[in-house]
Amino acid sequence: MKPKILSEAFAEFCETRIHFDSLLSKVDPGQKSRVAGLLGAFLRRPWTIASHFKIQLEASPEEFWQLNFIRLKKHPGIHATLSEMWEHWKDIPREGGVLDFPPELVQFWERDWGVETSGKLCRLLTQDPLTTLRFHRRAYLESGELKPEVETWLNGTTLPKSRAGNWFAKARIFKGYATVQRNELYHQGYFEIQDEGSQFMAAFSLFPRQAGAILGESPVVEKREHATLPADLRAEGLRVIDACAGAGGKSLAISDLMGGRGQVFSYDIYEKKIKSLKVRMERAGESNIKSVLIPKEDSSFLDRYRNTADLVVVDSPCSGHGVLRRNPDIKWNRKPLSLTKGQAERPMKELQREILSGYSTLARPGGRVVYGVCTFHREETAVAVARFLEENPGFELETMGFIGPYDTDGFFMAAMRRKD
Ligand SMILES: C[S@@+](CC[C@H](N)C(=O)[O-])C[C@H]1O[C@@H](n2cnc3c(N)ncnc32)[C@H](O)[C@@H]1O
Repeated sequence: MKPKILSEAFAEFCETRIHFDSLLSKVDPGQKSRVAGLLGAFLRRPWTIASHFKIQLEASPEEFWQLNFIRLKKHPGIHATLSEMWEHWKDIPREGGVLDFPPELVQFWERDWGVETSGKLCRLLTQDPLTTLRFHRRAYLESGELKPEVETWLNGTTLPKSRAGNWFAKARIFKGYATVQRNELYHQGYFEIQDEGSQFMAAFSLFPRQAGAILGESPVVEKREHATLPADLRAEGLRVIDACAGAGGKSLAISDLMGGRGQVFSYDIYEKKIKSLKVRMERAGESNIKSVLIPKEDSSFLDRYRNTADLVVVDSPCSGHGVLRRNPDIKWNRKPLSLTKGQAERPMKELQREILSGYSTLARPGGRVVYGVCTFHREETAVAVARFLEENPGFELETMGFIGPYDTDGFFMAAMRRKD
């Protein structure tokens, strides 16, 4: 009766439509990693897995993706698939394809990037995500080597095999699911779990010239010939505003790249995120980060800080398709491109425009604004930047482009300088 736990978790997902992570937090700890692996795999590549086990999900992919959540929950094909997955979890295909996505979403990708790139996106975004760490400067010796206790842990038997990041020297990528948060080094602030693309965006914000050379003109394009970013990048003493800081992944990485010097102001409109940021700040010992809860509807708060920042990072809310491997629920729960969860329903591009133009006023003359999103739609990326530059002629583009998704998540980033 083991698959019952999978069916129950799936039913809960359909009923409450909660975030995948929140769902997993409710699962019995003894079964959590198996449920996470199996349900995650099913949410990422349902059609491929069902076909592999020769189970009919529905007459056509269009109909399947149009099922409402009540019908989805009761769908016998899904329960049969979940049972097969539990029994034969080692045989589950590791990669899916176009049919594993709502056709409407694939159409957007094809329109923006053509059939070939869209097909690659579908394959890549159905794979299981990798676990990536970012090592804090306290994990290193002065010589630039990782401390012996970190090396011992990484090379020990408790973890799957890992390798260095593609571009970012401080990243370490694990082949499979790695349980790292129980380790003492984590509690001592030696590392954070952070995708390499996200680490890369933090480095790009401070060093757009070096990092920009690695970016592609479209998603999926690899520019590995540009090799890694130097390990000793430092930008000390800056005044940075991380305007959409969330739980602070980029703020922490930026502060680390600044050697803990200078000042990072981390904004968000949600108290819960600011609370998580504080916990992470404390663990990392980054005393130069100041978190600020922004009053949602009151932009007058920002008036005091206009023209003050050397760097404003706007890691904007977006459709999130670059992180579909980690959050496979996005394709089940949201309409493509249009709405943002938890806020009033409105087109994503309007929100992005408002956020970028609002926070850009905080940059000092000669300062920089970095706009980033974890997605790849033209409307939310290059088009959003072009519109911003047209409406704000006081800014000029330094560089922009895409990274991932491959073994990193998918991101777009643009650096713009405020003219004197
Ligand atoms: C893509 S996430 C940021 C992720 C984060 N930078 C990181 O590295 O983990 C976007 C964030 O913007 C926040 N947000 C949305 N509207 C905002 C606003 N008007 N001002 C500040 N933050 C906002 C959301 O709560 C969310 O945490």
